[in-house]
Amino acid sequence: MKELFEKTSINGLELKNRFIRSATWERMADDKGHLTDRLLNVYEKLADGGAAAIITGYAFVVEDEQPNARMMGIYNDSFIDEYKRLTDTVHKRGSKIILQTVYGGSFTWYKTGERVIWGPSAVTNKVSNVTPKEMTLEDIKMLIEAFGDAALRAKKSGFDGVEIHGAHSYLLNMFLAPFFNIREDQYGGSAENRARIIYDIYDNARAKVGKEFPILIKLNCSDFMGDKGFTFADCKEICRNLAARGIDAIEISGGPVFRAPKPEKDPSDFPVERIGKESYFAAYAKEIAGAVDVPVILVGGNRSVEIMENILNDSAIEYFSIARPLLSEPDLINKWSKDKSCKPRCVSCNKCFDENGNICVLERE
Ligand SMILES: Cc1cc2nc3c(=O)[nH]c(=O)nc-3n(C[C@H](O)[C@H](O)[C@H](O)COP(=O)(O)O)c2cc1C
Repeated sequence: MKELFEKTSINGLELKNRFIRSATWERMADDKGHLTDRLLNVYEKLADGGAAAIITGYAFVVEDEQPNARMMGIYNDSFIDEYKRLTDTVHKRGSKIILQTVYGGSFTWYKTGERVIWGPSAVTNKVSNVTPKEMTLEDIKMLIEAFGDAALRAKKSGFDGVEIHGAHSYLLNMFLAPFFNIREDQYGGSAENRARIIYDIYDNARAKVGKEFPILIKLNCSDFMGDKGFTFADCKEICRNLAARGIDAIEISGGPVFRAPKPEKDPSDFPVERIGKESYFAAYAKEIAGAVDVPVILVGGNRSVEIMENILNDSAIEYFSIARPLLSEPDLINKWSKDKSCKPRCVSCNKCFDENGNICVLERE
């Protein structure tokens, strides 16, 4: 029987339990993405709170392309020394820290008139009203290098790994989705071609950081957009290919590619009845975990120890990542270690998004 509170490892990275803080944009860096004392304080509390590893909020890899306010940056070497402060702080408290890297794309409302925003194709995002610039092959090459350079900076800063953000409507997810990617070159068309940018990013990062530095990826199990989006079948194929290339762990999320038209009926790969209120992508992640020989991390609605224990022992899923409840109670994992039946305070109301910093509404003055 597998236990939630047991030691495991991901490519040599020792983890004291199976709980990971899922990437959460704190909105507390400075305007250029640099570390602030307030942000550091969030990580102190998380590291004290019992999670085996913390995945940072998404960090932008290209200086001119910051998709959201006060997110973390990793676009040049000036971050290396200051992030050593962050990684030391977390390590001293007995936790591990993984940097999530991102390129935003057209899913953005931030300074949209002031910067060039890349997309796989010039397909307008209907709500942000951003029509991205279709990336040339030269742009794609630059971005691949930028993700790889960011991974190397993360390693030099003392992070324990990087996670490539391939989910949630950001650029890499849009490459995967046929609605947003209508390219006719090697980066568009078949599932293999739509995923090629991710493979190239992974290969470039791996070459720069070496075999022993963990590289993870976060992917949607499906965009739930029928054949306009990234489908579960596509996801399984990409996970298999990434596993064969050597990815160290895959975090499975999901959700529509925002602002694409809704399918008229539920796509056949979205059996709604299988999705309960808690751990709602479990059915998908279980199937993926059974198909690949790489640790799978399940995210989304993980709220009770009993349900997670069942999933852990009923599948090859190895880890559970958690975002919103840790905004409310950064010490939730410690509480669970003492009392399995402890109910998180978080009710997934999403009121944690706030201009003055993303914190639980109950913590606001
Ligand atoms: C305030 C906030 C910020 C988030 N920022 C990120 C992010 O930077 N990167 C990411 O991959 N997901 C981000 N997410 C999504 C979470 O990582 C997670 O996938 C989602 O909230 C579901 O998990 P939960 O039910 O445990 O909250 C964010 C979610 C919230 C509520």
